[in-house]
Amino acid sequence: MSVRRLAKEQPASFAFSKATMKEAEWWIAKYPAERKQSAVIPILWLVQKQEGWVSEPAIRAIAELLGMPTIRVLEVATFYTMFQLSPVGSKALVQVCGTTPCMLRGAGDLIQVCKDKIGPKQALSADGKLFWEEVECLGACCNAPMAAINDYYFEDLTAETLSQIIDDFAAGKSPKPGSYIGRVASEPEGGPMTLTDPSLYDGSAAKKIKVLPNSQPRKEPA
Ligand code: FES
Repeated sequence: MSVRRLAKEQPASFAFSKATMKEAEWWIAKYPAERKQSAVIPILWLVQKQEGWVSEPAIRAIAELLGMPTIRVLEVATFYTMFQLSPVGSKALVQVCGTTPCMLRGAGDLIQVCKDKIGPKQALSADGKLFWEEVECLGACCNAPMAAINDYYFEDLTAETLSQIIDDFAAGKSPKPGSYIGRVASEPEGGPMTLTDPSLYDGSAAKKIKVLPNSQPRKEPA
């Protein structure tokens, strides 16, 4: 696991937006008052949604809100890789899966695209629009190779398709997530190979079931 540290450059302060605070209060209300620290993960996530990343002043503000030591919030934020500890791109946060199934299916080519288009290091692009990093398995191995971009998965990628997707995000467009070879979910390439009869899904197969002539009506228990 990589070493996770707070960014060297930090903002001077952090303030919850009205919308973030409203949602944070909803989460806090789910727990008994003396257990409100249990809301730390959803509130870190809300703060990341507000700011794009989790800063040190934000960690202090969350600790104060939840009445817990700052170090406890820091521990959570630095443990879970879903929390970004430095600024990410204003247009796209590209997380390329580099675990074995994706690597065997071409993740190396995707990483090269990110290096060419965003920067050689896993960091923010020079214009601040894009950020890329290699991450561990994102649980979509059936559709390898893949990348998570902002809130969605982009699957069955090639160097060409990822390249176009990154260009589109940089241009302010919203490329369609999902499989880039037209697969539905994680069905086989070329379409389903079993259970292909449409009548299985329209209810007609169930209507054909006949009651056997010698079957007895079910007796209700006395
Ligand atoms: S190995 Fe890439 S999603 Fe699992």
